[in-house]
Amino acid sequence: MALMAFRSNDFVDEGLFKNRHEKIVIAIDGPAASGKGTLARNISKRFGFAHLDTGMLYRGLAHAVLSADKNPENEADVEQILKTFLDVLDEKTLSNPVLREDTVGVAASQVAAMPVVRTALLDYQRNFSKTQPDDIFGVVLDGRDIGTVVCPKADIKIFVTASADVRAKRRYHELQGRGAKVTYETVLEDVKARDARDSNRAVAPMKPARDSYKLDTSQLNTSQALGQVIDVIRAQLLENPA
Ligand code: DC
Repeated sequence: MALMAFRSNDFVDEGLFKNRHEKIVIAIDGPAASGKGTLARNISKRFGFAHLDTGMLYRGLAHAVLSADKNPENEADVEQILKTFLDVLDEKTLSNPVLREDTVGVAASQVAAMPVVRTALLDYQRNFSKTQPDDIFGVVLDGRDIGTVVCPKADIKIFVTASADVRAKRRYHELQGRGAKVTYETVLEDVKARDARDSNRAVAPMKPARDSYKLDTSQLNTSQALGQVIDVIRAQLLENPA
């Protein structure tokens, strides 16, 4: 209750952020269509933090592999493209709307299972907060292994889930809205296959960090999810002033 009353006071947030020596790092992980991307974007807008959608790194690489007519399941093919991809990797590359397509998402999940890929993309993600200007007080990274591998010392870790059924419905409506001809059953199968691949891979599998706050968005809209997380962020920062 006390936290709810606190919500309207933006000056308190400034106080929580400004006097810290290091930028605040917020790690958001979770499966496809759990709502983590929207949540990460909304947190970054709400607090004026920088945001990195790390899935776009894997999608960017997967797209480069597919565009070169190479096989995203073949490690030698992927490694060959990886070298040039790292050279051209910038915000513009990552904002290409074609990366959002489902074929790219599936290939991203395949290249993301390769240890050589994960190692190569680690520095870019870890350096993200260091490349932000001084007047940006925090960063939000979302993905599958942010709280466990990329930023294990993040100030706040959130693991976002929703049932496979709810996530498949969200994805199905999104694809329909874009005019794609898909059935709900195929989308549900894809969601489950992607979950299995992302959770069962040997390196950096998707799993909640032990010290993460678990948020199930099955019954929440985006502003309810944001409201809960804002409360968690403020409570954590109040408890752990640096
Ligand atoms: O979040 P997304 O759907 O855009 O991610 C695409 C794929 O990239 C996903 O299936 C798994 C992989 N990924 C990952 O392994 N680690 C991350 N930190 C982010 C994404």
